[in-house]
Amino acid sequence: MTNKKSRVLSGIQPSGDLHIGNYLGALKQWVDHQKEFDAFYCVVDLHAITVPHDPAELCAKTREVAALYLAAGLELEHATVFVQSHVRAHTELAWLLNCITSLGWLYRMTQFKDKSAKYGADDAIFAGLLNYPVLQAADILLYQAEFVPVGEDQRQHIELTRDIAIRFNNTFGETFTLPEVMNPPQGAKIMGLDTPGAKMSKSTDSQLHAVYLLDTPDVIMKKFKRAVTDSFGEIRFSDDPERAGVNNLLTIYQAFTSKSKADIEAEFEGKGYGALKTQVGETVVESLKPLQQRYHELTGDQGYIDQVLAQGAEKAALVADKTLADARERMGFLPSKHT
Ligand code: TYM
Repeated sequence: MTNKKSRVLSGIQPSGDLHIGNYLGALKQWVDHQKEFDAFYCVVDLHAITVPHDPAELCAKTREVAALYLAAGLELEHATVFVQSHVRAHTELAWLLNCITSLGWLYRMTQFKDKSAKYGADDAIFAGLLNYPVLQAADILLYQAEFVPVGEDQRQHIELTRDIAIRFNNTFGETFTLPEVMNPPQGAKIMGLDTPGAKMSKSTDSQLHAVYLLDTPDVIMKKFKRAVTDSFGEIRFSDDPERAGVNNLLTIYQAFTSKSKADIEAEFEGKGYGALKTQVGETVVESLKPLQQRYHELTGDQGYIDQVLAQGAEKAALVADKTLADARERMGFLPSKHT
């Protein structure tokens, strides 16, 4: 009998501002379950350069996202927090895996199809955008992660990671653990407040689309008050696309309060959409308060975050370098005498 904890790994891109979709789909479940797992959480900065980016912003956002991980409640005795590019093994394994990944697999990725459509012509789409899921597979496989806590939109990338691992293991011998998706019970797919038919996304120009983790209470209330609903006038959970706005508000409420669906529907029985929006808005404001306060405390001392990240990279590299060395050996690379 062994008490060894299962390994988990996940990451968030430091592009744009983190919103409540990122929080409910990923960050909150990392924090809620941190004691049960041997956890590795990285800020995936290398993924943030697959579309044109601003260097100064990348640097600032990388620190900001790391600070938000801690502000949300990740504790360093349970979780290793680091920056992806600080552990060189990620890029090296990504190359090795690129050489066993079929182009057809990559062209089929929904995220690639959506993002590349925005850039139009092939000349405006960089190879990194297509190869993005291979780097994600390297992130996961380097740590032999058994579970990957993410929102629903990442499922296809985790399935691809399994396909890549299976091909590697079959070709070169058993090397990688096959990871499984871990979705939160509620909030795996939060929709845009102004576009309840589409998931809440970081890359939008609309002021009313996403509630960001660092939004002020006034801004949060304003966004909820202007959230798109419908004309049915009924407050209940529903899969009907025409009721997606109200369903999304109820889902956000459920994810933040952990109340049952029946209790929530009973709570809003006979009430109007105005009351629903106010209640959800106030709940989100209150729930984010401790995170916002810790964030401001943490960022008061910039050196602290950098120190956490340096220690995290050191711990992560111990695991990642070992897996990379195994993969290199299995693929037949001459061992390097250079240290
Ligand atoms: P990213 O940065 O787009 O999103 C970070 C996390 O937030 C989740 N998420 C959502 N969950 C619920 N509702 C939404 N509207 C919503 N929008 C985003 C995402 O599912 C994700 O969990 N490719 C990844 C980053 C990545 C990664 C990894 C994840 C790189 N390497 C290794 C896991 C393991 C991405 O772009 O996430």
